[in-house]
Amino acid sequence: MAVSLIILAAGKGTRMQSDLPKVLHKVAGAPLLIHAMKSGAAVEPERSIVVAGHGAQAVEAAARDWSDDVDVVLQTEQLGTGHAVMQARAALEGFDGDAIVLYGDTPFIQPETLEAMIAARANTDVVVLGFEAADPGRYGRLVMDGDALQAITEFKDADEATRAINLCNSGVIAAKADVLFDLLDGVNDDNAAGEYYLTDIIAIARTRGLSAGVVRCDEAETMGINSRPELAVAEAAFQVRARAAAMGNGVTLQAPDTVYFSHDTYIGADTIVEPNVVFAVGVTVENDAQIRAFSHLEGCHVSRGSVVGPYARLRPGAELAENVKIGNFVEIKNAVIDAGAKVNHLSYIGDAHVGERSNIGAGTITCNYDGVFKHKTTIGADVFVGSNTMLVAPVTMGDESMSATGTVVTRDVPAGDLAVGRARQENKAGFARRMFEKLKSQKANARKGA
Ligand code: UD1
Ligand code: CA
Repeated sequence: MAVSLIILAAGKGTRMQSDLPKVLHKVAGAPLLIHAMKSGAAVEPERSIVVAGHGAQAVEAAARDWSDDVDVVLQTEQLGTGHAVMQARAALEGFDGDAIVLYGDTPFIQPETLEAMIAARANTDVVVLGFEAADPGRYGRLVMDGDALQAITEFKDADEATRAINLCNSGVIAAKADVLFDLLDGVNDDNAAGEYYLTDIIAIARTRGLSAGVVRCDEAETMGINSRPELAVAEAAFQVRARAAAMGNGVTLQAPDTVYFSHDTYIGADTIVEPNVVFAVGVTVENDAQIRAFSHLEGCHVSRGSVVGPYARLRPGAELAENVKIGNFVEIKNAVIDAGAKVNHLSYIGDAHVGERSNIGAGTITCNYDGVFKHKTTIGADVFVGSNTMLVAPVTMGDESMSATGTVVTRDVPAGDLAVGRARQENKAGFARRMFEKLKSQKANARKGA
């Protein structure tokens, strides 16, 4: 059966103390909302509807940035989770399949869990994702009758006996879309919070002779974020899993606790990652590479056999082919470095192409920016760029060309040529010795005078 997602993301998240809507705070470089959408994507939804309210424009922009295939509907007043789901009704008009309700502030629901819920739907009308809480706190409680779910009772409305239940509501609910909206028509706001509770649909379903049941998951999956400390806990939990997953895939992490991954980091087997490395968003590293200590990578690709760092920075658009060497205090931005090329020390290579086996000397800088426009530097294959060369872009060095140390390259260098662009050296015989003697005697005289 076809599945659609309804992702609730209208709440303000007061406890975040932020101008940003809660669901746009990031874990592992991606907004919480995108984590929720990524989990949901695993069930290949036919439609995805985000219910936005606070900061709706920003929420919509983030959702669309991740997927073109999403509807954003507005909940202008936050009257409760049931009311929020009802806002998706028009967007699901004519949809004849299951709807799964997710929360935009709950980033870690696993794809297998949603698949288990869909499977459970085969013989249950309404399926709720529940978990045994270590500390059930203010969660809604799942009131069971054997395997059947009788009702969800919100903490505020629960008596002592119900509060003693440890089985809690995660918030994720699956039902046939038309059934879901029919049930919601029966929900009112006659409760302790004065809200339209989504959770009330269970009791209503039972009075209408429909069945309700529970799929259980680990508490860690249902973690919702309401505050900065919880955001930090979520980040830490993500990192623990990402490190374990990388090692499980054959990546060596010398000091796992010091390596930071993004939601989309990919690292191939037999790559070695030294301590204190940050993988910001958009990084892929092939097999057999080395990412040495204290390097920062973002929006880049590192091919097999390449070595990066220590202390290297790869910025968006850095593309390293196989067996490239990028050394200490080197920054690469929007540049393709072909196989076997080396940029080993203290360089900035931006908006550039470096050909195969070329060697970029220490301190080389591509002067790519004139204050208004960015310009390209093209370096051919087997080029030797002397130390401290300034490449004033746009400029090209042909294959097997060379620049003398300290050259400011302002004109193209033809293949096979040497560019020398610096003042010619002159030696003044004995000048230094005479100068030192003069200065030393001045110093001695100054002491006597004092
Ligand atoms: C809800 C559940 C509770 C469950 C808990 C799990 C209800 C009534 N209660 O409680 O049983 O244990 O989640 O975390 O459903 N939202 C809107 N519009 C609204 C209200 C909420 O979009 O009008 C969104 C929020 O932004 C949030 C989600 O729905 O992402 C949950 O809302 P929240 O107010 O946090 O529900 P809880 O009180 O935590
Ligand atoms: Ca909540």
